[in-house]
Amino acid sequence: MALQYLALATMIVLYSLMFIGGYVSAAGLGLTCPDWPLCPGGILPSEEYLIEWTHRLVAATTGALVIATMVVSLINKNSDLKIKITSSLATILVITQIVLGAMVIDLQLHAVLVAIHLGIGILLFSMVLLTTLFAFRISKIPKNTNL
Ligand code: HEM
Repeated sequence: MALQYLALATMIVLYSLMFIGGYVSAAGLGLTCPDWPLCPGGILPSEEYLIEWTHRLVAATTGALVIATMVVSLINKNSDLKIKITSSLATILVITQIVLGAMVIDLQLHAVLVAIHLGIGILLFSMVLLTTLFAFRISKIPKNTNL
């Protein structure tokens, strides 16, 4: 898949994840699914866990997409240092965010951790946005150029 569309898909899925996370928080559903990584009942959740389970499923999808974007940007011949840095930072942030998500549950929605979870989400979105912008820019560079 072309790097720019992979990065764009990653950004759209991440935005949806942040939207769902805001809903989980505002609706007070943060502790409806007390286990980690799965909700009680196994891979497919019952209705009571659906929203939080969806947040975790979309988080896992986002993680895979962010890592795939980094790999493709590292091996793309036209990639410059900027996209390699932003996509690598996004990977570090997404892994941190997923670990932090587990801690948010484990520590019963500790206010500081929830605030850090939001802050890292914003930083992650910024890195994915920059990666997408850089990816569209390098897609305009003609192939076989040494620039
Ligand atoms: C890339 C990964 C993730 C992103 C970008 C993300 C993003 C967010 C955002 C933006 C919020 C809303 C925060 C707020 O309004 O203060 C949220 C809430 C939440 N997230 Fe995540 N999240 C991710 C992964 C996870 C994971 C893996 C878990 C683990 C189960 C998790 C658990 C939660 C919980 C429990 C809340 C609600 C906190 C509350 O009730 O106040 N998140 N997430």
